[in-house]
Amino acid sequence: TSTPKKKRGALIAIEGLDRAGKSTQCQLLMERLAERNIPAHLQKFPDRATPIGKMINAYLSTSAALEDHTIHLLFSANRWELSAHILQLLNDGVTVVLDRYVYSGIVFSAAKGLSLEYCRAPDVGLPGADVVLFLDLDAEVAAQRGGFGGERYEVQEVQGRVRGLFNVVGEREGEGRWRVVDAGGSLEEVREVVWGVVEKVVEEVGGKEVGRFE
Ligand code: TMP
Ligand code: MG
Repeated sequence: TSTPKKKRGALIAIEGLDRAGKSTQCQLLMERLAERNIPAHLQKFPDRATPIGKMINAYLSTSAALEDHTIHLLFSANRWELSAHILQLLNDGVTVVLDRYVYSGIVFSAAKGLSLEYCRAPDVGLPGADVVLFLDLDAEVAAQRGGFGGERYEVQEVQGRVRGLFNVVGEREGEGRWRVVDAGGSLEEVREVVWGVVEKVVEEVGGKEVGRFE
């Protein structure tokens, strides 16, 4: 006899430019999941709390300089150090919402001139997102939203390149996994579009194994 297999959680990645509203939408999504009694966990990347995360934080706040490949690998290592925990949660039936993931890792480094193939390599094998919601916003509009916070990369020119690269990376993922959401709408509008996608994915992933980023 076999015991019925427990439904796994979904791995949901929220991506976008700085100021696109990712963290707000992650919060709203967590509230909606709780209302529907769907167990869920929010994981922000970079996770600045770990020792590697502290090095990343020093780099982003521009108090530390790091060579481009070095910081690239640290961002990836920050995901790897949390990957077993994420996998465990998913297999325990918990949906995991990611505020940035491998896609940010690829495009921010590629915007500095590293090749896309190089940038993707260290993340290959990480738990694969079931869906990516790309909160798409014009870099100029993003810059106008209360201004950037003064961290590294928070300049319009970088964000413009990053947006183009997100679209390139999204094409590789394909329309099934990569969903472009117009982040120019109201909080409520964006929230409902996000929920429409997530609700279906949470339902559908049940029997499938967790994928791997490739
Ligand atoms: P945050 O503002 O969402 O905390 O992200 C910090 C910055 O780090 C943001 O500009 C995007 C960038 N970033 C990378 O360059 N590589 C990565 O792997 C991640 C997760 C973020
Ligand atoms: Mg930021």
